[in-house]
Amino acid sequence: MSVRWQRYADAESAAEACAQYAAGILEATLSRQGRATFALSGGSTPKLLFGRLASCGIRWDRVQFFWVDERPVPPDDPQSNYRLAREHLLLPARVPPRNVHRIEGERPPDEAAQRYTEEIRDFFRLGPAELPRFDVVQCGLGADGHTASLFPGSPLLEDRDRIAAAVYAEAPRQWRVTLLPGVLLAASHTVFLVTGEDKARAVRNTFREPYNPQRYPAQIASGDGVVWFLDRAAAGMLEAPAE
Ligand code: 6PG
Repeated sequence: MSVRWQRYADAESAAEACAQYAAGILEATLSRQGRATFALSGGSTPKLLFGRLASCGIRWDRVQFFWVDERPVPPDDPQSNYRLAREHLLLPARVPPRNVHRIEGERPPDEAAQRYTEEIRDFFRLGPAELPRFDVVQCGLGADGHTASLFPGSPLLEDRDRIAAAVYAEAPRQWRVTLLPGVLLAASHTVFLVTGEDKARAVRNTFREPYNPQRYPAQIASGDGVVWFLDRAAAGMLEAPAE
């Protein structure tokens, strides 16, 4: 699998580079079409990224925010992916609430997935079988190789038709609502920010093992629009990137 990736000395510089890159794409998109759509992941790594994005001087009031996945918790819960973004990006960047399209983790997962799907359909004015094309999708990578809430062995990894679904994830022993592979594949640009030695094997397998998204879900996101930003620790099992 050909992958565009860059290695940085530490997590902070990887986050800075990822923020600059994503902001550049958003800015170019805003110049071209006056608005941009940005889907965010959660977990812990994005905290570094969100803080740097907030200080990028772009017209955040023209950026529409969505989520790649969400946990089954209310928006003020410490586990909430929305809360992470709200604290470190949406509030500091003064994003208008009307630009925020969160997954309602406080609702039953199936209901939250259905409502999120309908909100995306409405926003993108999609026909029954159409999928949204996000301008930028920000993904992470779990130590087990999952991305979004698409875990190894999940039947959702085959779903190229639907927009979002609820899934019980065995690894975190938790329901999740997640965007599905068809939407991740349709993205104009995808950035992965992955840091830490605990991710090195998942990174190596994603990049170097034969294409098998059932085992390595992040292999779904491939192609020229995908760029990985790694710190030295996460890239520890890779040879130097092609110059
Ligand atoms: C989530 C994320 C998930 C995340 C990876 C990595 O809800 O947990 O969306 O896909 O990107 O689990 O998480 P860390 O950044 O915490 O390692």
